[in-house]
Amino acid sequence: MTKKVLAFDHHQIHAGNKGLGIDHESVARKVEQLVDSMTLAQLFNEIRGLQQAPIEGLYHAGGNESLGIPVYKMVDGPRGARAGNATAFPVALARAATFDVELERRVGLAIGKEVAAKGGNVLLAPTINLLRHPGWGRAQETYSEDTFHTGAMGAAFISGAQNYVLTSPKHFAMNNVEFTRFDMSANCSPRVLHEIYLRHFRRCVVEAAAASVMSAYNKLNGIYCGEHPELLTTILREKWGFTGFVESDWFLGTRSTAPALSAGLDIETPAGYRFSDEKLIEAIQSGEMSEGVIARAAGRAIYQKLAWKLDELEKPPAFVVESPEHLAVAREAAEKSMVLLKNAGALLPLPDSHRLAIVGDLADAINLGDRGSSFVTSTEVVTPLAGLKARFGDDNVAWFRSDDDFSALKDFDVTVIVAGLTYKEEGEYIPTMQQEAEGSDLARGGDRVSLALPDHQRELIRRAAAAANKVVVALQGTAVQVGDWIESVDAILMTWYPGCQGGHALAAILTGDACPSGRLPVTIPKSADQLVPWDVEALEVEHDLLQGYRYVDYHGHEPEFPFGFGLSYTEFDLEGLYVQRFDNGFEVSVDVTNTGKVAGATIVQLYVGYSNSSVLRPVRELKGFGRVELSPGEQATLVIELEDDDLTYFDEAEDDFVLEAADYHFDIGFSSRDLSLSQSWRLSPDGFEPI
Ligand code: GLC
Repeated sequence: MTKKVLAFDHHQIHAGNKGLGIDHESVARKVEQLVDSMTLAQLFNEIRGLQQAPIEGLYHAGGNESLGIPVYKMVDGPRGARAGNATAFPVALARAATFDVELERRVGLAIGKEVAAKGGNVLLAPTINLLRHPGWGRAQETYSEDTFHTGAMGAAFISGAQNYVLTSPKHFAMNNVEFTRFDMSANCSPRVLHEIYLRHFRRCVVEAAAASVMSAYNKLNGIYCGEHPELLTTILREKWGFTGFVESDWFLGTRSTAPALSAGLDIETPAGYRFSDEKLIEAIQSGEMSEGVIARAAGRAIYQKLAWKLDELEKPPAFVVESPEHLAVAREAAEKSMVLLKNAGALLPLPDSHRLAIVGDLADAINLGDRGSSFVTSTEVVTPLAGLKARFGDDNVAWFRSDDDFSALKDFDVTVIVAGLTYKEEGEYIPTMQQEAEGSDLARGGDRVSLALPDHQRELIRRAAAAANKVVVALQGTAVQVGDWIESVDAILMTWYPGCQGGHALAAILTGDACPSGRLPVTIPKSADQLVPWDVEALEVEHDLLQGYRYVDYHGHEPEFPFGFGLSYTEFDLEGLYVQRFDNGFEVSVDVTNTGKVAGATIVQLYVGYSNSSVLRPVRELKGFGRVELSPGEQATLVIELEDDDLTYFDEAEDDFVLEAADYHFDIGFSSRDLSLSQSWRLSPDGFEPI
């Protein structure tokens, strides 16, 4: 009996999400009664953070003991709890490379549990801004260049975390650059906004019931997101039915008093500057704003406190933080995230008997990602050197620092070069801290102008490859161009920022203890001109329908490595594509077989292409994916459920998503450029028919 694998098991993924079980009618009544009884001063207190700096890592907001209103205790972030020591998980971009939504749910569950154990009740995550260009400093912090992929991973994370705490997908919306984020305007048409940049936010709000949303620093079409009526009210609440609260991004996320509150911003963070008593009273007395707007914002802030029974949330014991179970999840995520990009002569996996050289300062550096708001401090970080020594034995691994003499590398069977990026080349850009830290070790990167490795890293690879026998490059960081050195090495493994268990995961992949199964969530170009134009100083950035693989496919470029690409130590075969029509969607199934000699996992990807469309549409778009783990010779049937809504485009005249009469091509395979099976269906006034 062939086992069946369901690509996205809604029941499993959303189990325990407290945001999905709320009796909204009863909560609304309680909130109305409470708000009606509150003084203006009490209402003021609910719509702002209480202090500029966190208390034991937690940002407090609102709360009134005499009224029985709990305090929000907010904490970052997307890769772990940023309060004291905590499990540092691989960055979200790495976890996206697993294409494993069940695992991402468990990561969310673990982070939510650690936040709750630390006394927090709002997790300021996930970051789900689209990875529009890999040069974005916080590309590491989000999931993917694709909106469907981002929505699936973000919804899974939220449902996991919301077993314990509220979440706050961010930054709403179109925060896709770092250096200019406080001032720039991201500009786009309504179609591009809804179809490409908001679709994953909608999924996180509607399907995963995100408890809050953080508005972005930047402008959208010339209006700051923190005071954008269309974004915060028309779309978020009226179209999507959002019942939570909107908190600003910190400090410059709130740009005004009356315009922000009237637009739908509910809580100013980290403290009340624009929402100070003085400014609120001034706005009311001047007639710029009614007291009703204050009551509305306070009601929204209080709503989730009552809906979630905040004071009754479980506070797990402290020992859950960095527990063996959570470290195991971090290791599993790191192992499944690593993407094998090159493996000439099947050099990998390495036999146990090998004596290894490991080269580069990064081999024994703590390189968990940037030093911005998503930074996490772990008690123990397993570096690549530590991981390889633990696996091969101390005496079988020799470390050569970046400036050492490499002439002895010829005496080793294989040399592993650890090269890549650090928080100095990319990451959140916090000007105040940047200026203080200029030149010091705290300097941080912001956006990258070039996607090439830094010169000193390319020189390291050149020198080591020239001296060594067989060479594996273990890349750290985010997407980098490899064209000028790929031919000089035998294998390349993208390890991203792999979290506190990354060294063990690296050793497991290099030795075949774990079979590489990661797939690229971002296109790696041969050159910058294969991607959308990128200007890190621009204050006006036009966004259109095409970026990432959508852009590469439309322009007919051949990237270095396409979206969804990754190698394995075994082989897989696809057959028996079957597309079945249901009332408002399709069920796409395909048989996957491991035709190789070792156990492994593959990520089967479903893309939909279009013909006879009435509008410009991308060549193809990811609309489903599933991870299938198989022993040698084993077969499974992967089932991907597709809703008609997934096939729609945003029609500006209708101001809504529309399913158009056209031909739809269901292409299935192992990457956006490796689609071996296809079936087409035509939608006419008589309905869908196979063609
Ligand atoms: C920031 C970040 C945001 C973070 C907040 C609080 O500036 O943009 O992601 O949650 O500060 O640390």
